[in-house]
Amino acid sequence: ERSKGINGLDKIVLREVRGSSAEVYLYGGHVTSWKNDHGEELLFLSSKAIFKPPKAIRGGIPICFPQFSNLGFLEQHGFARNRFWTIDTDPPPFPTGTPPKAFVDLILKPTDEDLKIWPQSFEFRLRISLSPAGDLMLTSRIRNTNSDGKPFTFAFAYHTYFSVSDISEVRVEGLETLDYLDSLQNKERFTEQGDAITFESEVDKIYLGTPTKIAILDHEKKRTFVLRKDGLPDAVVWNPWEKKAKAMADFGDEEYKHMLCVEAAAVEKPITLKPGEEWRGRQELSAVPSSYCSGQ
Ligand code: BG6
Repeated sequence: ERSKGINGLDKIVLREVRGSSAEVYLYGGHVTSWKNDHGEELLFLSSKAIFKPPKAIRGGIPICFPQFSNLGFLEQHGFARNRFWTIDTDPPPFPTGTPPKAFVDLILKPTDEDLKIWPQSFEFRLRISLSPAGDLMLTSRIRNTNSDGKPFTFAFAYHTYFSVSDISEVRVEGLETLDYLDSLQNKERFTEQGDAITFESEVDKIYLGTPTKIAILDHEKKRTFVLRKDGLPDAVVWNPWEKKAKAMADFGDEEYKHMLCVEAAAVEKPITLKPGEEWRGRQELSAVPSSYCSGQ
């Protein structure tokens, strides 16, 4: 279902029969909302988000491609998050043969202007779908369509902003004892110690070679998000905390308390594609009452 969103930007609304829903802006190929079958919002979207190019929308799920962070010559997090995507008229088949009830297929190809800043021809297909249970699935397929025989290399992240009731009550499980690059310390490498990860100050880390399943436990809401990923070895964890929150024009001063970014990513080892080759990276999110997850 296609309609006009904020500032007249085109958006697609996905609805599953049991009541879950999602909203996707063509601007950025950006998921801005994901609701469970009780109509509760599961993603954080800043009240100050600017829905206007060239600013990426603050919240939801920005796509970072072909660069992550400032690790390269392009703008921060690459350009995919502030380009206009279109509906893919030639989408890949569904593995089961039957399409789900609620899905959309988007595509991004470089414009002549894009080719000046990143001289690589590509087709980036993004499929966003809801399962009957309300799980949100994102599948990215990136193909090298260079005609000059040249490979290209890229980094990638699903920069997911989860909505949490109180960041001090949140725990992340699945990253303990892993190595990470600390973006607050010049991306130096450290090893995470001890127990599940909790939050009491600014965090900006790239966990390396993580398990495919990461859990975000919101104690107060009695809700657990489960993130499953495929093709994306790393996971970024970010909360700007008080000082950085105040410094961001498109983010409320207190909003850091109600969000946490956990991002399925490929950062440490960028992906290289030869012409004709395609890469696939998937992130699957579910939100379940915590009582069902005890013992995880
Ligand atoms: C995170 C990065 O993924 O995104 C942080 O690790 C960065 O370093 C944050 O501050 C937000 O980036 P931006 O460009 O959307 O403000």
